[in-house]
Amino acid sequence: MTDALDRCLEPARINGLELRNRLIKAATFEGKTPNGVPGEALSRLHVRIGEGGVGMTTLAYCAAEADGRLHSDMMYMDEHIRPQLEALIGDIKATGARVSGQLGHCGNFTKNREFRGRRPLGPSPAINSFGVAAGMPFAGALTKPQIRDRVGVFANAARFMRSAGFDAIEIHFGHGYGISQFISPRTNRRTDEYGGSLHNRMRFALEVLDAVRATVGADFPLLGKISMSDGVRGGVSYADSVEIAALLEQGGLDVIICSGGTSSMNPMLLFRGASLLEGMLEQEKSAIMRFGLRLVGPKLFRDYPYEELYFLEQAKRIRERVSCGVCYIGGVCTAESLRTAMSEGFDFVEIGRALLFDPDLPKHLAADRDYVNGCTHCNRCATLIDAPGGIECVLRPDNFAVAD
Ligand SMILES: Cc1cc2nc3c(=O)[nH]c(=O)nc-3n(C[C@H](O)[C@H](O)[C@H](O)COP(=O)(O)O)c2cc1C
Repeated sequence: MTDALDRCLEPARINGLELRNRLIKAATFEGKTPNGVPGEALSRLHVRIGEGGVGMTTLAYCAAEADGRLHSDMMYMDEHIRPQLEALIGDIKATGARVSGQLGHCGNFTKNREFRGRRPLGPSPAINSFGVAAGMPFAGALTKPQIRDRVGVFANAARFMRSAGFDAIEIHFGHGYGISQFISPRTNRRTDEYGGSLHNRMRFALEVLDAVRATVGADFPLLGKISMSDGVRGGVSYADSVEIAALLEQGGLDVIICSGGTSSMNPMLLFRGASLLEGMLEQEKSAIMRFGLRLVGPKLFRDYPYEELYFLEQAKRIRERVSCGVCYIGGVCTAESLRTAMSEGFDFVEIGRALLFDPDLPKHLAADRDYVNGCTHCNRCATLIDAPGGIECVLRPDNFAVAD
């Protein structure tokens, strides 16, 4: 009898790009780009992940422009980092892994003290609670010419990414970032053709996809990560997300990655497991932000116990609806879960925390058909993204340590 796990470990293609297997390291912003420049620590992590055998790894956060960053220690896609980025991508490719970059924009929320504009801009006026300590408590609405400009910003960033050697681009359509602020009725209250019906709220996302596709060409692999639910009242629902996926497929996306949640309003929907609150309080330097976190913490970090394959049932509805590639993400720690994802017809599986715990996961899977990863979903890694030196797996701090 054939084992579905074999399918997971066999080579697969995304729009002509061959991956040595169907396992992709998920975008996990690692906090290893001080002043927005990729260096040795980021290289160490992704080279190690590549050596462990994944088909592709994902560099995050690749902001479309300087003001698309949450803070100034994030990369933005521009010539000033070309030498470092090309070297990094080259080193990762030497391991046999492909390299994708998650292209995104923060839109209406940022705490970037180097912000060049007057205030962050999204679909509609909003409170930028994230930016209170940085003196930017409010976000404004983009005018139509500004929307056109932002579409162009994505296209320019994509052009740069292709020329810098990325094998693929993952556009971030989810988690409450800039594009999903347009998709979500909770944050998009526009009355023009960019607001209202789902088709109107998808207009910006589809314009970005169209512009990126036109720039990188028909043969370049494009993935997109969506939130199947915002997890907030008045936000995108699981039913909406099936239509969102269908529209993105029509728009020319090669692979849809089925995530969920909103970083700024319901992050635990996307992580599950232990609350991020305690770790974030430990890391937050601003007293005002700590006060705010204590106030909203219990409501913001809701209790979602961890379970394997926590997005499976919703993601299956998208799998049934579209014929482009579909990538499962969310709670994959065992060989059994990978078997299930493969049997349900997913083309790829993105894995975040389990690879931070065990970068050799693909090799271990090949050797052990009953593999169980030791990640405990303590989520401490996710609270370290702004810590000096960035993230680590607190259970295995030596995994990505840079030699002195
Ligand atoms: C440390 C850390 C940083 C993350 N940063 C990002 C990010 O930059 N972009 C993104 O789309 N998701 C990010 N995520 C979410 C993951 O991509 C993924 O959706 C989530 O961890 C669930 O997958 P898992 O159960 O395999 O970890 C991050 C997760 C972690 C743990």
